[in-house]
Amino acid sequence: MENTTNTTDAVQSAQAANKLVIVVGSVREGRFGPTVASWVAEQARNHGEFDVDVVDLADIDLPLALPATPPKLAGDAYPRPEGMRPLTDALDGADAVVLVTPEYNHSYPASLKAAIDWHFTQWTAKPVAFVSYGGGAGGRHAVLHLENVLTELHAVTIRDGLAFPNYFTSWEDGRPGDPETETYAKMLLNQLAWWATALKTARANAPYPA
Ligand SMILES: Cc1cc2nc3c(=O)[nH]c(=O)nc-3n(C[C@H](O)[C@H](O)[C@H](O)COP(=O)(O)O)c2cc1C
Repeated sequence: MENTTNTTDAVQSAQAANKLVIVVGSVREGRFGPTVASWVAEQARNHGEFDVDVVDLADIDLPLALPATPPKLAGDAYPRPEGMRPLTDALDGADAVVLVTPEYNHSYPASLKAAIDWHFTQWTAKPVAFVSYGGGAGGRHAVLHLENVLTELHAVTIRDGLAFPNYFTSWEDGRPGDPETETYAKMLLNQLAWWATALKTARANAPYPA
């Protein structure tokens, strides 16, 4: 009987809209990140399978000095600053995450690394997709590093990403100039929704063996 109830709960949970958190990774004065994130949020809302929340790291208290115990060992007792709560709560409730990142010196910004390192269980068995921008490489170096780091946290990284090279010439009025980009975004979001539902069901059925 209990098994039937658990299965029903898992099915109902899988049918609910997936909660998508879009993280603005850069905090620099005059940054372009919020423009990209707001376009991604529009694509995700139009897609129809997500409840979308945007978290801007510029609004989050993100100290570089971490507590003595790593978050992996501390679990829920990890002593985070109160000003980090909107990020932690959003990641806790997320079924899927999109990290919007620029490229800084062939990697991603320190703000994003801090946001990642302050959390652990929040990433476990959840799908993470990447939208990057920058100069000629479109942030691909940043994404390669992020894929490596997110794998360590037991996240599932999505194969299709969006990369915007030379965004300063390819974006106009807050949107990418190439209309095909919306098709690529849809494919990314299709994959993200598939993984979000699959992993949400799996997490509800059995604890992840981390
Ligand atoms: C410290 C720093 C390092 C950068 N290094 C790179 C780089 O390695 N590759 C690249 O394509 N762009 C690089 N850029 C250019 C950024 O991609 C560009 O400034 C972008 O707008 C940064 O994102 P943001 O505006 O959201 O901060 C760098 C910018 C900064 C501030």
